Amino acid sequence: MNQPHPDTLPAALTRAVPVSTLPVHAGPDGPYGSRLLHGWFATGGPAGLAEHLGRYGQAPLPDGKRPSMPLIHAVEEAGLTGRGGAAFPTGRKLRSVAERRGPAVVVVNGMESEPASQKDESLLHLAPHLVLDGSALAAAAVGAAAVHLCLPRSRADQVRALLAAVEERGRAGIDRLPVQVHVLPHHYVSSEETSLVRWLNGGEARPMATPPRPFEKGVDGRPTLVDNVETLAHLALIARYGPAWFRSAGRPDAPGTTLVTVSGAVRSPGVHEIPLGTPVGAVLELSGGPSWPLAAVLVGGFFGSWLPADQAVRVPFSKAELAAAGAGPGAGVLVALPHGACGLTETARVLDYLAAQSARQCGPCRFGLPAVAEDFRLLAGGRPDGGLMDRLRRRVGLLPGRGACRHPDGASRLAATALATFADDVRHHERLGPCPGATGRPVIPVPGGPGPEQEGWR
Ligand SMILES: Cc1cc2nc3c(=O)[nH]c(=O)nc-3n(C[C@H](O)[C@H](O)[C@H](O)COP(=O)(O)O)c2cc1C
Ligand code: SF4
Repeated sequence: MNQPHPDTLPAALTRAVPVSTLPVHAGPDGPYGSRLLHGWFATGGPAGLAEHLGRYGQAPLPDGKRPSMPLIHAVEEAGLTGRGGAAFPTGRKLRSVAERRGPAVVVVNGMESEPASQKDESLLHLAPHLVLDGSALAAAAVGAAAVHLCLPRSRADQVRALLAAVEERGRAGIDRLPVQVHVLPHHYVSSEETSLVRWLNGGEARPMATPPRPFEKGVDGRPTLVDNVETLAHLALIARYGPAWFRSAGRPDAPGTTLVTVSGAVRSPGVHEIPLGTPVGAVLELSGGPSWPLAAVLVGGFFGSWLPADQAVRVPFSKAELAAAGAGPGAGVLVALPHGACGLTETARVLDYLAAQSARQCGPCRFGLPAVAEDFRLLAGGRPDGGLMDRLRRRVGLLPGRGACRHPDGASRLAATALATFADDVRHHERLGPCPGATGRPVIPVPGGPGPEQEGWR
């Protein structure tokens, strides 16, 4: 697997998407309360290698090629959880890879396929060396023989910047293993961990059935750690400043800070770094506060949950407390829906997108998800037949737990929470047809353009 040279990138990469169309904002504690965005507060721009080393010094890489249990222990003590969607304990993942036989592989997930998220793009733009330090440290922790950084084909500027950052580190001789940069199709399920493994093994970027999971048998058949870029940036700071420092932000059961992308009806949409456990309402205030009275908040992203606004604003942004409210942090996404917008129409648009983005390998994605999307379109358009609601509820209930990956589960959660949160709108659409909001300006950023069917999976 050869690294692409910046001058020989494929033609698709010339269709650049501008980096960070959303601004990045100050953290709640000012310059020092923010951690990953600390450098940005200092200079207002991306940190090159010299600036990065001046601020943090070199990453404290452990000696030797064997796994580093002290580093794994520090991550476990810190209570770091993955920032790629499932919030799984990172220390436990490191340990399960390190305990397997033979050299491991690290895959750095910079794909950010969630359309409502820009936190990974912002982080890679502003602090690439924090992510690359974290990748090198994770490789040392699990005893890896290779590190692969996966980036989306649609972000040409990002790919160039990361290739340049990797080259600069190579010249400075600060990494033991060269990071191999890969450019993958940018579809919703192409960033799922088994898709990355399959692609790196020469196949298509589509999810695979498990077991074996990547930690058992992944890239080149080796035990493979797949981690999100933000997770690895936190790991880079834990290795330097220790678990107690990490835990000094956030809450005992949800330690540390996290990046959140806020969009929709707020005055100043953008990416924020917040201590975990910050109430959703306070996060919206960081984005300038609601620009219009809110009806609901989409929490977690396209795989997320709708919560009524008055409930959402009180819920602390942490896995446990969001779960108690029927939601999850997902990729750190909040979309504020104003009164007057139609939550059913917004949901129908997202479900259409998710149905088009599936890999169509399993029953729920081939049949169930398109059928749910079609039912939602009828409901949103105010054209329900007599049996629509019973059929829709039954179909939504049949989606979870039946696919090879969690794609149908996420779509089902979105649909089910929409039916509950917008119950009054459902009745209105059933009896009287669509409300005026159904034809208003869309709130959720659903991408258009060619999908996997046109662009392919390789
Ligand atoms: C459909 C789907 C899409 C996903 N997309 C991403 C993504 O864009 N970025 C990411 O880091 N994780 C994504 N994940 C989660 C990854 O499979 C994997 O759990 C994650 O990269 C692990 O990193 P973490 O433990 O640091 O969160 C996705 C999962 C699913 C089911
Ligand atoms: S559940 Fe859907 S997206 Fe996941 S592997 Fe099966 S067909 Fe692909």
